[in-house]
Amino acid sequence: MGSYGYFDESAREYVITSPETPAPWINYLMGKNLKAFISQGAGGMLWQGEPNCGRLTRYRFNGLPADSPGFYLYIKDGESVWNPSYYPVMAELDSYECRHGLGYTRFAAGKDQLSVEVTYLIPIEDDIFLWDIRVKNLAGQPKDISIYPYMEFALHDCDKDTYHFLVCGNQARYSHDPELNALMVDYFAFEATFMGKSIFSSSLKFANFDLDRDRFIGRGRTEANPIGLVRGLSNSEVKDGGRYACGVFENVLHLEPGEEKRFFYKYAVSESFDESRKINAKYSSAASIDEALKSLGRFWDQALSTAQVDTPDPAVNALLNTWLPNNVRVTLKNARSISTRHSGSSAALCFRDTMQDAMPCTQLFADDARVVIEKALSTMLANGRTVRSVNPETMQAPETDFVRIDAAVWGVFTVYQYLAETGDLEFLNQVLPYYDAGEGSVLEHLLRGLRFIAGHTGKDGLPDLFDVDWNDMLQIFSAAKPGGQTVMVAQQFIYAARLLLEILDCGNEDGPVDELEQQIDAFTRALNSDAVWDGKWFRRLLFADGEVMGSQANAEAKIFLNTQSWAVIAASLSPSARFAPAALLSGLDPEKTRTAMNSVYERLNTEYGLRIFSPPFTRMSDGSPFNGNTPGAGENGGLFLHANTWAIIAEAILGNGDRAWEYFSKILPAKLSERNHKDPQRGYANEPYAFTSWIYGPDHERFGNGQLSWLTGGAAWIYKAGLEYILGIRPTLNGLRIDPCIPKEWEQYSVTRKLRGTTYHIEVGNPQHVSKGKIRLKVDGKDIEGQLIPYTAREEITVEVTI
Ligand code: GLC
Repeated sequence: MGSYGYFDESAREYVITSPETPAPWINYLMGKNLKAFISQGAGGMLWQGEPNCGRLTRYRFNGLPADSPGFYLYIKDGESVWNPSYYPVMAELDSYECRHGLGYTRFAAGKDQLSVEVTYLIPIEDDIFLWDIRVKNLAGQPKDISIYPYMEFALHDCDKDTYHFLVCGNQARYSHDPELNALMVDYFAFEATFMGKSIFSSSLKFANFDLDRDRFIGRGRTEANPIGLVRGLSNSEVKDGGRYACGVFENVLHLEPGEEKRFFYKYAVSESFDESRKINAKYSSAASIDEALKSLGRFWDQALSTAQVDTPDPAVNALLNTWLPNNVRVTLKNARSISTRHSGSSAALCFRDTMQDAMPCTQLFADDARVVIEKALSTMLANGRTVRSVNPETMQAPETDFVRIDAAVWGVFTVYQYLAETGDLEFLNQVLPYYDAGEGSVLEHLLRGLRFIAGHTGKDGLPDLFDVDWNDMLQIFSAAKPGGQTVMVAQQFIYAARLLLEILDCGNEDGPVDELEQQIDAFTRALNSDAVWDGKWFRRLLFADGEVMGSQANAEAKIFLNTQSWAVIAASLSPSARFAPAALLSGLDPEKTRTAMNSVYERLNTEYGLRIFSPPFTRMSDGSPFNGNTPGAGENGGLFLHANTWAIIAEAILGNGDRAWEYFSKILPAKLSERNHKDPQRGYANEPYAFTSWIYGPDHERFGNGQLSWLTGGAAWIYKAGLEYILGIRPTLNGLRIDPCIPKEWEQYSVTRKLRGTTYHIEVGNPQHVSKGKIRLKVDGKDIEGQLIPYTAREEITVEVTI
């Protein structure tokens, strides 16, 4: 079996050439509030706002056939019935192609000398789902065909749709409006968050339709063989609710030989029919639909122009230039809520996840990112702790709260990135509320967040784990044995506090410099103690009774990845000249960090990525069942790619270019897909163009099989690892730092980077074939010392780098 497609970078599309991909390979379409995901088989779901309360169409997450229903187009040509998406009918096609682009998906398929193209898109500025269709008769005789679009409607609210459909099915009306040539969906469920009034219409007059799903599908049948396509549509409305509703209608077409016809289906959504009519009317010409596509293109041109790379590796180019930016926008807008593997039942803005998602978005979509950062900061309590999560629409937190002790550090990382990217230091003074009481500036939020960590330490001087740090699975242990202290958060604190010191320095802010330095020193001492060092690596958790996790002495989970990577990252920022009390900042022992990363290489490296720890737990203690995975799965010793990204950064910081590149290139989705596609059930299986959260590890029978693509903080970090640590183009508060760490065989590469109004045209040459070395830096033809290019007001700058 070959691979399933290829990148067409000139069109910024991924082209799927076989519909039978090993898993649904999806794309996201996202407008103002309206969003959808759609697969290579046209399976998918449409929702407004949040998918827990605004789901407009149904997707049966656990149902069979998998990846259904969706946005189907049925073609009836003589005796044959088929779909350009191949599914659900699965009639053999003469040709098939699915192009996932940025914000749209296009199918082009042919059968029996009829070619059909359908582009699905949601314009950036309006809540309307558009199907742009072209059919062409390639035969020598005229053709009379029928075309039917099909979607199954859902009851907006996830709970109502799943558990309370019996009652709530009666709180919606589905009717035909012949004048408007449309099907009308009037949803008025009691206490619904979103009372959508939607209009599903065609630009071609239709006479026949069905709104009653079970009449259209028929008993014992599925979307693969609806009775409505055999007997004809029943024109049944569902005027006062009851049971299940769908939207399907028939367009009858006559095509002369060689004739092509273009027409549109539209699903406009708002909270009033008047408004939906207006949106619907706005898209009544071909020109308006062309413009919607162009406007999407312009939106992406602008975002992507902030960083474009040209390296000898096409997969790196496609991912950094197009697909990871797309991925991080998807995570920013959808958190961990909805994909083929996330049901969309909970909408949650979780401080630490959201901050990570926003981090690269500060470059790509700075305005959106800023709004999200402000929202996330507003979920911090006045004492510096953040609430577990909130619903982003209502800002309500769930009833049961728990402490994620790591939260604050991610806020600092992201605000630093925002400031480095934009230079907007005023942001630090913006006043935002605390979640419980009072308000404070952005800077004050960050400080209080770090104080919360520093103010809660255990007997060894490390932060209390409370319920959990970055690793969700540790909840099981904190529940069974409270009082753990986390090594990882101490390391992350040091890195965050140093970034904050830089921020204070740069903004000439009168911040509590001494306090931060003393805290860095205290954690540094604690981390350098024998209680943390295990001989060859850093331990993970310490308990008050002397028990430890992540030690040679443990039978399971002897070595963890994160405390090795973060030891390096924590030590990577040297104290700035202004805060020079070197004696105070003793620093982390460089020998130890190197030894630790060598242990990672020896003990955690596999052909598909690094294990999060090893060996896995074979017996889970009683705790949260959601996090107790079988050995080798997820956080239980799986290949957790999010955590892999920090190991890449750590090796690049250490200057181990070969290792950094090995870890980086190994887990790029395009490469995983290419190398490991042979077994559709056990191979990597996920999209080559979206990052994956984790892969089954070698202790699991599905070793190499990818899980949970798209919605992972790993997407943000792999983008940062690639752009800033492999290619080494890293914005700081004082200038653009150039610090490449690349594969030895690369002769050269170039990067165009737009930052603070300046476009940097950067050419990097590697004549001596090293992966990292001293660099010679020429800016506009003049040599400059060091690696930092100070910011200027000039619009264009050329940078020549020789390693
Ligand atoms: C998932 C969670 C994230 C957590 C990570 C590691 O990605 O969304 O919050 O940090 O797993 O457990």
